[in-house]
Formats: sequence, structure tokens, C-alpha cells
Amino acid sequence: MPIITSPQEFNVDDLYVDLRPLLDVPLFLKCEGFNFAGSVKLKAAAAMVAAAERDGVLTPSSTIVESSSGNLGIALSIIAASKGYRFVCVTDPRCNPASKRLMRALGAEVRVISHQDGNGGFLESRIRYVEELCAAGDDHVWLNQYANRNNWLAHYTGTAPAIDRQFPDLEILFVGAGTTGTLMGCARYFREHCRPVTIVAIDAVGSVTFGGIPERRMVPGLGTSTRPALVDESLVDDVVHVPETDTIRTVHALSSRGFLFGGSTGTVVSGAARWLAAKYPGEQPVAVAIAPDLGERYLDSIYEESWLRENFGDLTPELRLPGADILGV
Ligand SMILES: Cc1ncc(COP(=O)(O)O)c(C=O)c1O
Repeated sequence: MPIITSPQEFNVDDLYVDLRPLLDVPLFLKCEGFNFAGSVKLKAAAAMVAAAERDGVLTPSSTIVESSSGNLGIALSIIAASKGYRFVCVTDPRCNPASKRLMRALGAEVRVISHQDGNGGFLESRIRYVEELCAAGDDHVWLNQYANRNNWLAHYTGTAPAIDRQFPDLEILFVGAGTTGTLMGCARYFREHCRPVTIVAIDAVGSVTFGGIPERRMVPGLGTSTRPALVDESLVDDVVHVPETDTIRTVHALSSRGFLFGGSTGTVVSGAARWLAAKYPGEQPVAVAIAPDLGERYLDSIYEESWLRENFGDLTPELRLPGADILGV
């Protein structure tokens, strides 16, 4: 029985959903949403704060500042509240209303940057704003999830060994790419431990993380409009780019079976299903995908008919059809 005194101490690290009977995809989905932050980002947040405290960068009078599309901001809000730090989250209009409400309920300040950068995204504008805040206030500390090695180290020391313990014969690991902290930590672990695991990165169409042209993206979490400093493509065996319509089809396929997951889980499952169908048709390799969060935060977007109509127009009726083809395979 876990008994805790701070919220970041609790995290379920051994829960997998078997997608074979559900979606006819040979894939085990590692659920990372069962903690007080509701997402995988609790691990990166806890590791970055702990390291900044160890290094003497964070002191009791510090204000933590971070750019986040939502989930890291929620995780930092929890940790900041628990440890008594002030926290300012710099986000953009794509951040879910529920995520903003959650951060404010936890005592964080939320600043929404609506000015698009040259790539049509918001990341550069958000980062510029964070830099301005830090320049104006000596006590402001930017953890910088895009370049902080403790982001990937959290997964090198936590997520990847946990998967390795449960699946010693693992053949393929699918990891969604945002900052690429989860991806780089897991890829380095399996590479450095000489494990023959194929690492497949899942990214959104329109993201520039692995090259390509920036395009409009509406589902927060995965993908970037500015290449993250952490990414090292030499550790990745393959990359799948998933259109947002497939993401939405897939979350609806999962919710129609009772599993309400977030958008990045839909992207990862859709990309993994497509990759497995192409590379291992009719076979049952040992494959795991990481599900970064759960679906409640997306009730106003990917699960909301008016949002779907507004952002994906006449695709809406097709998006809501149940059946195997909804995975976009
Ligand atoms: C819901 C969700 N999934 C996935 C990711 C990507 O994880 P990472 O930043 O480790 O690449 C994020 C990052 O913000 C996220 O919020």
C-alpha cells in the first residue's frame, strides 16, 4: 500500500493495455497517465526540479518558469505547489482549457502567448517570452525541457528499465516525440544495454522534429514547430508521421472500447498500428508503445463534436465511424 506525503511520489509504472483483442493490433500500451499530474511529464518535471535543487539553481525564493503545451505545466504546478515554489507556465492558444484551469487551481500563473512565430507555431514566441521573463527577474529559473538532460535521464533511469523488466524479449518500442525526452531516454537505455530493440519514433504530420515542413497542428502534446535540442536521430531506427485525422480516429476507436486516452496516445497507437501492418503483416512481434496521458483533458477538443467540426470540417462524420479502418491502417 503506497502511503505518500507529496504528490510526485506516486506513479503507476507497470500497467499495460493489450491491444490485440481490442483493436487487432499486436501491441502492449504502457499507461503513463496514472499519477497526480495525469501524464508521463511528471517524471521529467520531478527529475528537472530535483537536479536544479541539487545544483543549487533552485532556492526557496525561486520562481520556476517553463514553456509547456499543458502536461509539463500541470506536472510542474503540482511539484511547485508541493515544494512551495512560485510557477509561471508560458503556453499558447492550443493549450486545452482544462489544462489551464488545472494549473490555476494548483496555484500556477498561466500566460498564453498568441503571437505565432515564423514557422506558424508558437514555440519560438513562447521561448522568447520565457527568456524575457528570466532576463527581467533574477529569481526566475527556466528548467528548459527542450534541452535539459534530466528530461531524458528520467526515462533512461525510470521508464525504459520498467519496460525492460516487464518485457525482457521486447522487439519494438514505439515512442511519441515532443521534446523527445521520453524517446531519447528509452532509446539510449536500450542502445547502451545492447538490447536488440527497434526504436520507432512517432511524430505528427506538420512537426519539424525529424525534418520536414511545419504545418498547422491542433492536437497538443506531440510534434514541434522548432527542432528540440535533445533529439539525436542516430538513436532512432524509424520515424512515422501521423496525420491528426488518424489520431482522432484512433482515440475514438479506443474510447468506443472504454479506454479514454489523450491525443498523443492516439497518435502513437495509430503510427504503431500502421508500422506493424507494413513491417510485420499477420505476425505477433513483442511490441510496446508508450501512452503518455489520458483523455479527460481533451473533452473540449478531440472528444467534442463542435471542435471537430470547426477544425476538421466535413471529415467529422467519417471520424466518428467505429471499426478497424478507423486506425488509418
Ligand atoms: C501528452 C503528451 N504526450 C507526449 C509528450 C511528449 O513527450 P516528450 O516531451 O518526452 O517527447 C508530451 C510533451 O509535452 C505530452 O504533453
